[in-house]
Amino acid sequence: MAGQREHWNSRSGFILATVGSAVGLGNIWRFPTAVVRNGGGAFLLLFLIIVLFIGVPMIIAELTLGRKSQKNLVSTFSTLAPGSKWWIVGLIGWAAVFIILSFYSVIAGWSLIYFLGSLLGFFSGLDTEGLTQAHNQIVGNPILPILGQAIFMVVTVIVVLYGVTKGIERWSKIFMPGIILILFVLLGRTLLLEGAAEGVLWFLRPDLDLINLNTALDAVGQVFFSFSLGMGAILTYGSYLSPRENIPQSAVLISLSDVIIALLMGLIVIPALFVFNVEPEVGPGIIFVTLPAIFNVLPGSMIWSSLFFLMLSFAALTSSVSLLEVVVAYFVDEKKWPRPAAAISLGILNFMLGVPSALSKGILSDQIILGMDILDSMDFFASNVLLPLGGLLTVIFLAWVWGTDKAMAEIIKGSPHFKWGKAWSFVIRFIIPVAIAYIFISGILG
Ligand code: TRP
Repeated sequence: MAGQREHWNSRSGFILATVGSAVGLGNIWRFPTAVVRNGGGAFLLLFLIIVLFIGVPMIIAELTLGRKSQKNLVSTFSTLAPGSKWWIVGLIGWAAVFIILSFYSVIAGWSLIYFLGSLLGFFSGLDTEGLTQAHNQIVGNPILPILGQAIFMVVTVIVVLYGVTKGIERWSKIFMPGIILILFVLLGRTLLLEGAAEGVLWFLRPDLDLINLNTALDAVGQVFFSFSLGMGAILTYGSYLSPRENIPQSAVLISLSDVIIALLMGLIVIPALFVFNVEPEVGPGIIFVTLPAIFNVLPGSMIWSSLFFLMLSFAALTSSVSLLEVVVAYFVDEKKWPRPAAAISLGILNFMLGVPSALSKGILSDQIILGMDILDSMDFFASNVLLPLGGLLTVIFLAWVWGTDKAMAEIIKGSPHFKWGKAWSFVIRFIIPVAIAYIFISGILG
């Protein structure tokens, strides 16, 4: 079967596309928001530990499962364990993706609006108070957020329509370097501002008193979200890999790029909060207030700002494409739906699911679930509940049903000198299941 499946055209294409899936709003929007919510350095420390012990080993696990089965998430389980009920994990993943895509396109829509707004000079010269007001007006408007969400969804569907190698690779190669460049400019400017050091310290110095199981659950959710783990996106990308590919090395490359971009964002946004006195209560809008504030102290603020939000929309696009791709691949592979029909109908359905999130900062802002508005609770449920659950079951499947021996045999096809095999197997079999189960159960109950 393997020969029939489309494969990546090149190694760099695969890495860039997978990094493209990983790097997105998770690093640029969600990471700084989570850091602020959870008290700075303490969260950063937990995040890095979880990256090392859960994130990287899990990327290896998912790539390996995908390459072995050459299938999407749901079919991977039915191929590697025929007749079992494990395909249910695929359904959890499918649901997680579907929910994530629905609010992801809302935030990406905000970014599109900020792109246009910057072009038209709406944010030029505003102080943080003005920027906060502008933000509330934009996200609280009854039409604008839905419009942004709709445009973004249409573009996502169009890219998915053109198929994996043609669509995704081409886009990723152009836009990823651009966003990194602008981030460095922003970083340089922010660190030169008076009072930035205080923010840098708050970000880097862990206050161990602030670490508890809720922080840990948030950090787990952040790693899963940011690394696109737990629901089969990385697995699906792995299914387009050839056996020559070095999986552990790719996993490290992907994780490093993802973490570096998150750290960059932390080093930009957090000092800016301190310098410009932005209230942390702004919540999910935090980057949409701080970043324009930094742009406003750069010469040519309009150009920088519009370029940035354009690039951010593209970074979001490479991720949303991977989300929709997972959902579509199942119907194309298993139900033999024509790709265009699957992409278009699922895109429309997903858009409708996202509309309440788009309205959740405005006319639906009094709809509160578990203390959060609709968008935030969608995010919480998908990222902190469904993804870790999917990840937990995926790891248990790999370790205890399929077997780490078989996984190792698959891994060394492309990396005969993999030195960390034993450590990896141990982490996959014991550390990850216990850690996720513990954090997950006590975090949810707490
Ligand atoms: N990782 C992406 C980001 O950080 C979002 C994303 C893409 C994702 N595909 C995913 C998250 C699959 C969870 C699962 O923006």
